[in-house]
Amino acid sequence: MALIRVDADQCKKDGICIETCPLAILEFKTKDALPTMIRGGEILCIHCGHCVAVCPHHAMNHAAMQSGDCPPIRKELSISSEQAEQFLRSRRSIRVYKKTTVDRNLLTRLIHTARHAPSGHNTQPVEWIVIYDRDQVRDLIKLVIDWMRQMVKENSPMAQMFHMARLIQSYEAGSDRIFRGAPHLIIAHCPQALRTSQSSTILALSYLELMAPALGLGTCWAGYFMAASNLYPPLIHALKLPQGHAVFGAMMVGYPKYRYHRLPLRKQPAIEWRTGRT
Ligand SMILES: Cc1cc2nc3c(=O)[nH]c(=O)nc-3n(C[C@H](O)[C@H](O)[C@H](O)COP(=O)(O)O)c2cc1C
Repeated sequence: MALIRVDADQCKKDGICIETCPLAILEFKTKDALPTMIRGGEILCIHCGHCVAVCPHHAMNHAAMQSGDCPPIRKELSISSEQAEQFLRSRRSIRVYKKTTVDRNLLTRLIHTARHAPSGHNTQPVEWIVIYDRDQVRDLIKLVIDWMRQMVKENSPMAQMFHMARLIQSYEAGSDRIFRGAPHLIIAHCPQALRTSQSSTILALSYLELMAPALGLGTCWAGYFMAASNLYPPLIHALKLPQGHAVFGAMMVGYPKYRYHRLPLRKQPAIEWRTGRT
């Protein structure tokens, strides 16, 4: 089966698919011809679906996605710039959670949204582990604390930087400053050898974090866990990742106990406008 199929009855030969293709693998072979793929295009295509999604006439189909399979963008769901700004500015790192367990379907929905984040060459490399049971979350906290104990013992600069002695003390006093009492942990792992794994994971988790409030959920980056998960062999072993994979990001998730009422302030951006030639 051909990788792309153009519906000759619908195509207006406007060339939009050709102009927007990221790999420039579409062309008009002759004047008045339908768009076709260049030789070797099958190998270059990154299956991003832009040709299908951008065609105003629904004339383009890709073996991985037919035009009719791709949901239309519903104008009535567009948000204003004011709504977008408040939505983005009101996202918060949640550090106090209700004890309630989150339904698996809701967590699945979160992850499904995250897979629409940009990824290098559309590789979509992120794979997910959901630590769903509280006991398993506690086991991971213990391993992170064990790592911190070792860092403190070795007088590692990281122990100072992350105030590990205080975190250990809190843990011993019965408080969880690693996962903040969140009922679940979402771990994102990727092939280590892929150059864009780090950026793709951060973007996927950012999408996940932004979707969470719309589902009534709260999240927080699990930074201590992320550091330990790449450095502490007993934790690396316990995670049982596929061969060649590493943790590139992780997030606590649960129902927030408190609502926020104001938007906190942030630094002014340091912008240097460069115009003209020097
Ligand atoms: C890579 C990364 C790691 C983080 N790790 C933690 C963490 O381990 N624990 C925590 O409470 N917050 C963590 N945070 C959250 C930041 O502290 C938080 O984003 C920052 O204070 C701003 O607050 P806001 O997210 O509510 O705007 C992390 C954030 C990032 C981006």
